[in-house]
Amino acid sequence: MVFSEEDRRAVLAMVDESLRTGSLTLGRHTKAFEEAFARRHGLPHAVAVSSGTSALEIVLRSIGVAGHEVVVPTNTFFATAAAVVHAGGVVRFADIAADTLALSVATVDAAITPATAAVVMVHIGGLVSPETPAIQALCERRGVILLEDAAHAHGSSLDGRAAGSFGRAAAFSFYPTKVVTSGEGGMILTGDSGLRDEALIYRDQGKAGFLNGDHVRLGYAWRMSELHAAVGLVHLRGLDEALAVRRRVAEVYRDGLAGCEGMSPIPVPEGCRSNYYKYIAVLAGDLDRAEVKSRLEQECRVRLSGEVYALPLHRQPVFAGMAEGEFPVADDICARHVCLPIYSNMTVDEASYVVGSVKATMARTTPRAGQARA
Ligand SMILES: Cc1ncc(COP(=O)(O)O)c(C=O)c1O
Repeated sequence: MVFSEEDRRAVLAMVDESLRTGSLTLGRHTKAFEEAFARRHGLPHAVAVSSGTSALEIVLRSIGVAGHEVVVPTNTFFATAAAVVHAGGVVRFADIAADTLALSVATVDAAITPATAAVVMVHIGGLVSPETPAIQALCERRGVILLEDAAHAHGSSLDGRAAGSFGRAAAFSFYPTKVVTSGEGGMILTGDSGLRDEALIYRDQGKAGFLNGDHVRLGYAWRMSELHAAVGLVHLRGLDEALAVRRRVAEVYRDGLAGCEGMSPIPVPEGCRSNYYKYIAVLAGDLDRAEVKSRLEQECRVRLSGEVYALPLHRQPVFAGMAEGEFPVADDICARHVCLPIYSNMTVDEASYVVGSVKATMARTTPRAGQARA
C-alpha cells in the first residue's frame, strides 16, 4: 500500500473538510468515490460499504439467497463462504482449474443443482479466468445468478473487460493489503439499478432512505465513513501507476524464473491482464513449502507473502460438515503454491534480488524422500 506525499496531503485536505463541515458519513467523499469507481469499471452503479465482507453479504441478501445454495470455490477467503451463511444461504463448495485457480465451466456445471441461486466467481490473485464469459452463459442457461468476489482484482481485466463487470454484481475489498485500499472498506459494483437500490437500503440499517426511519430490510451498520472514502478515492487515482509497477515486477519474475527447477510461476491466461495482487508460483510436489519459505527468509531475507490459500475452505474447522465431495485440484494447488513478494513501489532491483534468491534456494533445497515430482 503506497501513498505518496501528494496523496497524503490530498487525503488530509478531504478529512479536514469532513471535520470542518461535520459531514462524516455517507457524504460527498463517499459519493465521489462511488462515482469514480463505477466510471473506472464502465458500469453505472457503485455502492461504498464498510468492508469486502459486507459487500458480499449485501449482494447475496439483495438477490435473495436465503434457503438456497450458492456455489463457491473452495480455495477462497473465509469471507466468501461466511457471507453466504450470514445471508441465510447454503454453501456448496466447488473445485477449480489448476491454470486459473478459479471455478471452471466443468466444476460449476457439476455443482449446480435445482436449489442453486448463485455462483460466486473469485478472481484469485488478480487472475481473471478466460472461462468467465462461458460460466456467465452457463449460469444464464441454468437460471442462476453469477456474482464476482473481486476483492483481489482491482484493475484486472479479460479481453478489455474489467474484473467485476461480468456478474450481476461484484464485491471489492479495500482492506490494507489490497491493490486499492481505504484502510477498511468495500464496494459493490453493478449494472442493475434494482440491486443498487437494495444495497443502499441494506448498508444503512435496512432503512428505506437516509432520512426515512422505516426499516424495510434486515440491514446492518454497513456504511463507509467519509474519512475512509477520502483515503479510497485518493488511492484509486493511483491505480494505473500501481498496476504499471506490479506488471514490471511480474515481468522480471516471469523472465527470471523461466526454467527454474522446482518452482513454476502460474502464467497469466490468454486475454487476461492481471493486477498481480499476488504473484503465484507452484512448487514441485516433492518439495517442502515450509522449508523453501524458511530458507528464503533465513538465508536471503526474502519473506514470501501469504498464500491464496494454504488451506481450502472445505478443510477449515468452521466449515466441517458443509462440504460434500472431493476437491483434488484445489487441495493440490493450496498445498503447493507460494506467493512471491510484490507491492506497488517495488523496484526492478528488488525483484531481481528475489529471482536470484529463489534460484539459489531452489538449487539448495533437496526433494523429500519418496515424493514424486509433480
Ligand atoms: C477473496 C476475498 N473475499 C473477501 C474478502 C473480504 O474483504 P474484507 O477484508 O474487506 O472484509 C477478502 C479480503 O480480505 C478476500 O481476499
